[in-house]
Amino acid sequence: MAVIYDEKNGIFSLHTVNTTYQMKVDGQSYLLHLYYGQKLDAPMDYMLTYFDRGFSGNPYGAGLDRTYSLDALPQEFPVLGTGDYRNVAFKIKEENGCYECDLHYKSHEIQDAKYSIPGLPSAHAKQAQTLRIVLQDERLGIEVTLLYGVLEDCDVIARSVQIRNAGGSRVYLEKVSSACLDFLYGQYDVMTFYGRHAMERNVQRNSVYHGRQCIGSTRGSSSHQYNPFVILAQADAAENMGECYGAAFLYSGNFSAEVERDQYDQIRFVMGLSEDQFSYPLEANEEFYAPEVLLSYSAQGLNRLSDNFHRCVREHVYRGKYKNQVRPVLINSWEACYFDFDGDAIVELAKQAADLGIELVVMDDGWFGHRDDDNSSLGDWTVNEEKLGCSLRELSERVHEQGVQFGIWIEPEMVSEDSDLYRQHPQWALKIPGKAPIRARNQLVLDFSNAEVVRYMFEEISSVLKQGEINYVKWDMNRSLSDIYSEAAITQGKVMYDYVLGVYSLLEQLTSEFPDILWEGCAGGGGRFDMGMLYYTPQIWCSDNTDAVDRVRIQYGTSYGYPLSTMGAHVSAVPNHQTGRIINMDTRGVVAMTGAFGYELDLGKLTDEEKDVVREQVARYHRLAPLIQNGKYYRLNNPFVEEYGAWMVVDEKKEKALLSVVLLNIHGSMPVIYVKPEGLEAAKDYRDTATGKVYSGAALMAYGLPVSLALGDYQSYQILFEAVDEKEE
Ligand code: GLA
Repeated sequence: MAVIYDEKNGIFSLHTVNTTYQMKVDGQSYLLHLYYGQKLDAPMDYMLTYFDRGFSGNPYGAGLDRTYSLDALPQEFPVLGTGDYRNVAFKIKEENGCYECDLHYKSHEIQDAKYSIPGLPSAHAKQAQTLRIVLQDERLGIEVTLLYGVLEDCDVIARSVQIRNAGGSRVYLEKVSSACLDFLYGQYDVMTFYGRHAMERNVQRNSVYHGRQCIGSTRGSSSHQYNPFVILAQADAAENMGECYGAAFLYSGNFSAEVERDQYDQIRFVMGLSEDQFSYPLEANEEFYAPEVLLSYSAQGLNRLSDNFHRCVREHVYRGKYKNQVRPVLINSWEACYFDFDGDAIVELAKQAADLGIELVVMDDGWFGHRDDDNSSLGDWTVNEEKLGCSLRELSERVHEQGVQFGIWIEPEMVSEDSDLYRQHPQWALKIPGKAPIRARNQLVLDFSNAEVVRYMFEEISSVLKQGEINYVKWDMNRSLSDIYSEAAITQGKVMYDYVLGVYSLLEQLTSEFPDILWEGCAGGGGRFDMGMLYYTPQIWCSDNTDAVDRVRIQYGTSYGYPLSTMGAHVSAVPNHQTGRIINMDTRGVVAMTGAFGYELDLGKLTDEEKDVVREQVARYHRLAPLIQNGKYYRLNNPFVEEYGAWMVVDEKKEKALLSVVLLNIHGSMPVIYVKPEGLEAAKDYRDTATGKVYSGAALMAYGLPVSLALGDYQSYQILFEAVDEKEE
């Protein structure tokens, strides 16, 4: 049983294969957090301590006991109003401006299924248990249900919160977090994944200090700047050792992840919706659903923690046809020709693709309205037949005739001022009456908090998708939200959240209406790279930066929370369009291949030798894709601090392993690089399939392997090891 309730002691235990999570309803009917870590089968309430502490108040129910204070006790869902002055998970405001509430245990229920959340993505599982604990504030008539979904196989606990206004009058939700973790003690580091457009998910690691450290997004999307994935690692934890916790937010909008060391050196971590521009009105009998947080714990370091999330995404987040299917190798028109193409150019790209073994051609931005640059036409999803020289149906047929699949780009959440849609419905753009809106990329954001706008967009986009055989769609989002005002909203504090619900509603409708399409998420590259999007789109364009050296680092940072199969990665032309760097074709291939592989350059400009390289790369990827997509991934070093990047993927049976090494810098008399493979079977021997040389698995893992250095910038090495069949020996 994954969920166990010990009635005598009021203790709930959640067990996964390797972990236990425990909490208790105490004598004051508060829900206290007891434990999260290695699997245990013991009540942990003996760890609670009580002292009379100055300026830490006592709830009335504790009578004259001055040692009972929620300012010091570990809690499951701390709220503003109980004398806990640390960072709280929940704030509610009454019409009269009062902020305080007091939640006590009311009831609980254990179910033999994983919960789902109306209107929001959440992890799914054929077999899983859910624990629901209802807390209530009697005075306000507010019921808060804490949801715990136990995904045993990948050591993940999913958490969410539902709030019901069972009182008589409207209240405002001012802060709703989805998960809180209280640690009684410990030296923890917090790892966050920060960045910017075209350089996402750099890695930062700092020790948790006194005060509140906070990352998040107020941009309306999860953002390039901070990814909604955070790790708390014990100070001595490294890739292959030590205790660490990860938290991923399955949500694509504003969020906040906060960690605080308190006055007693206890650590609290809180993750959920951002408080900024959030004040959600909840009328009598209405419910509110907080997005899901996935928590995981590893006693064996960060690689193991990442593997828990990778398996969870592959098994419990992705859905649909491409869940376990190898994705087609694609060629995207963007860096090949930007806005400058016609139908013949796309067919030509398809013809060349077919010749090289590439399976899908994507017509990126520029095929609709009168869009020949990025200043117009968003919102007008009518095919520009004049530019293409044919209809979308004809174009898709001509591409398919080459034996290649066909995909298109869309950006449904946006509107250009120069568009028929904006001229007809100017109030459908987010804009504050009387204030000139902020422009970004010369576009405005459609008000997806308004169901009418979402309905309209569903009709428009589905009509396009019916105009031809379309196998792939890239869903882009190229600016942050601003000017938060919806004419459809009673109060504006709900718009940011409702916007994301609108996006999910359109994604849900379109992905169910067109189940055979492969959807790829994108927001100026990786500006909305999160598990919420991965529920609908099994891959996301990892970054607008296609430079292989930068990509080694971007994909490394991304790998902490997300499997390789989520990361759209393409070989592009040199000098690279984002950095001007010139990197050889082999290395560009090695880096892009450890992702959802494709190309993004003018195939017509390749030399014959380069074409041969592409043919070989595509064929190699076809052989390696099942391993790359489903294997266990190991980071072997940190490319932010060392002058090379090394990583590997090992299949379930430990029979095949792909080692990739990329040199990020070359020097005179360069010291030899030694890499230490991981995840092999110590008792097996492995053959380097290129050289035939055989190595002992134990030796490789104990002492490593020298990487032979060739001169020249950015050399790379990709070695496929295969276990030597015992009979062969
Ligand atoms: C964004 C995407 C690019 C490309 C352009 C098109 O920047 O990230 O890949 O699709 O939009 O305008």
